[in-house]
Amino acid sequence: MGDWKEFLAEAQQSAREAGKLLKRGIGEGKKIYYKGTVDLVTDFDKRAQEVIFERLSRAFPGHGFLAEEGLSRPPEKDGLWIVDPLDGTTNYAHRVPIFCVSIALQFQQKIVLGLVYDPMREEMFEAIEGQGAFLNGQPIQVSQVEDLNHGLLATGFPYDVRESPINNIDHFNDFVVRAQAVRRCGSAALDLSYVACGRFDGFWELKLKPWDVAAGALLVQEAGGRVSDFKGREFRVDGADILATNGHLHEAMLSVLQMGKLRRREKQNE
Ligand code: IPD
Ligand code: CA
Ligand code: CA
Repeated sequence: MGDWKEFLAEAQQSAREAGKLLKRGIGEGKKIYYKGTVDLVTDFDKRAQEVIFERLSRAFPGHGFLAEEGLSRPPEKDGLWIVDPLDGTTNYAHRVPIFCVSIALQFQQKIVLGLVYDPMREEMFEAIEGQGAFLNGQPIQVSQVEDLNHGLLATGFPYDVRESPINNIDHFNDFVVRAQAVRRCGSAALDLSYVACGRFDGFWELKLKPWDVAAGALLVQEAGGRVSDFKGREFRVDGADILATNGHLHEAMLSVLQMGKLRRREKQNE
């Protein structure tokens, strides 16, 4: 393997088909099921997943799947498709047009390609490892903002925000008074894509799943940005937290994240 273009093309086609379905469905009455108090899923999440699975499993029968809506098939060969068929479900259920399809291919434990498709704006973000990142075919790069005071940041909150003290509210409070502004748009994959193309300067979040971050993290890296965990260690798709920046803001954001941790430790020792 090595030339991933054929794989990317097939994944893009499946994302477009799923995106078409989602776009058509956003105005329709849809069935909403609750996984938890605030964690919901619609019948369109599942239908979009079927569209992607159908196309990719036909094209690459030996590959495995790890997708959000209960689809897990171990790879017979080495390729594993990591798929969020609808990232931004809460927005979607409320007819807020901020959501996307996220697809990545992992090969021998490495993410080798990723795409994030926003069907409402017809924006296709894509990257192949070592070949740069693109938006609708045009090369993209992270921003050049060097001062946190001028940085537009993005984040999100986990679905257990009400039950768990590790819910990101402390970090949000720390950043909102240090950055230019902080956005909570409701789609981690789009947040990462926006860091990749320089609309956002940094993004942090915790308790995300591989399908939320696999494609977006590669996009940021290929666009010249930096991705790590909250301690600055190498990013892992199955890690507990993620910090993705334009590179310039990375150290400053790591320090702010550290403040929250120290405070929590002090409180525990009181
Ligand atoms: C969610 C979104 C959101 C993030 C949540 C994710 P979903 O994914 O990416 O921005 O804050 O933690 O779970 O449920 O819409 O696919
Ligand atoms: Ca998601
Ligand atoms: Ca989802």
